[in-house]
Amino acid sequence: MRTIAVTRELNAGIGNCELTFLPRSEIDFGRAQQQHQDYQSALASLGCETVVIPAPSGLADSVFIEDTALVLDDFAVMLRPGVASRRPEVAGVAEVLRQYKLLKAIEAPGTVDGGDLLCVGSTIFAGLSTRSNQSGIRQLSNIVSDYGITVETVETAKCLHLKSAVSEVAPGTLLINPDWVSSSTFAKFELIPIDEKEAHAANALRIGADVIYPSSFPRTIDKLARRGLNVVPVDLSELQKAEGAVTCCSLIFSTP
Ligand code: GLY
Repeated sequence: MRTIAVTRELNAGIGNCELTFLPRSEIDFGRAQQQHQDYQSALASLGCETVVIPAPSGLADSVFIEDTALVLDDFAVMLRPGVASRRPEVAGVAEVLRQYKLLKAIEAPGTVDGGDLLCVGSTIFAGLSTRSNQSGIRQLSNIVSDYGITVETVETAKCLHLKSAVSEVAPGTLLINPDWVSSSTFAKFELIPIDEKEAHAANALRIGADVIYPSSFPRTIDKLARRGLNVVPVDLSELQKAEGAVTCCSLIFSTP
């Protein structure tokens, strides 16, 4: 099997991105582009074949490709992002994913952002957030139930997406900010709490046995390393100003 990482070039208008929990601050576009390239190099260094989709004009947030689709073994679900400005991102991603997977879709009035979907084994935890609503999560549940996958809804009110608060760093091991999401929801898993001085540190991108992770959270990196995880640090400081994180910038899947 090959591991594919689909990414999308950075849009020159990223300074006009959507912001929900962060104040706007100036993004250095050249630096952001370099950081995005380094991120793609990290994916390649871990064995991913990167497929880069061009940036469509006028779609400020399109680099955050994770929010447009959920890609599973047998099919992909094209999502319907919670903010209207991001919905036009989906069509261009569908054109690429249909080369690999059967496509299904979330329909109006449902909304789901991929950042709200945490897959652990045969469970998808779905954040009920400012971006993902009951209708969207119900539609997703109906789609995946035919494949033996269960969806569990998780109230997500203190951060942009569920995966801002919890992500998987090893099979059945989750990195979590317990101030942003209830630990009891994930009680059956091994939980690694972030360092409490690094509130935004719970988003990690697992690629097999390795973890791509922001260099801006050194205290939590130490915790992950002490747990025996191989952390591949990347500097995403410019994209973090756009409320981006490591999972947001790619769609990772296996294909024959
Ligand atoms: N700027 C990322 C988002 O709000 O979707």
